Amino acid sequence: MKRAAALGAAIVVASAALAAALAANGDPMQAADLDAGRDVYGRCLACHAIEYDRVGPRHCGLFGRRAGTVPGFPYSEAMRRSGIVWSPESLDAFLRDPPGFVPGTHMTYAGVPEPGARGQLIAWLEFATAPSRCRSHPPDADAATGAPESR
Ligand code: HEC
Repeated sequence: MKRAAALGAAIVVASAALAAALAANGDPMQAADLDAGRDVYGRCLACHAIEYDRVGPRHCGLFGRRAGTVPGFPYSEAMRRSGIVWSPESLDAFLRDPPGFVPGTHMTYAGVPEPGARGQLIAWLEFATAPSRCRSHPPDADAATGAPESR
């Protein structure tokens, strides 16, 4: 648990560096939104990390993925059968009201009610979970190496 928290923190730091790089080179408006979205993602870190399963499944590769399909993660029946494919639209609906959108979900979280914060969060997720920017670590690979990279 302690180790998972440290990994989460390492990922946040790495993400901050990415957003800072964008601020230096890219569109400043986009960078500001990504920064804000990263802050909103702080609400999710109690249970999630981008690259690792915790209480909730890892988010790396989220966009275009069918709900409930991270291998080995013990999803609820409700999530596995939801038929959702994660996109900005489905995430907006889910994150507004998780138990309302997927009745029976194990994600015991009230959601992000503010539309602005939700939009920033989804933009951040789309950036940070792109498979070119994150590595998805299966739990057993993690255990096998013992020491996942801390970058
Ligand atoms: C209290 C713990 C908790 C918090 C806080 C939480 N989640 Fe979750 N999340 C879960 C659990 C557990 C699941 C698996 C749900 C299921 O199987 O029904 C999940 C599932 C998900 C899924 C579906 C993933 C998939 O692979 O299908 C998404 C997307 C998600 N969470 C996003 C978020 C975001 C974004 C936040 C922050 C705004 C957040 N969650 C906050 C526990 C949490």
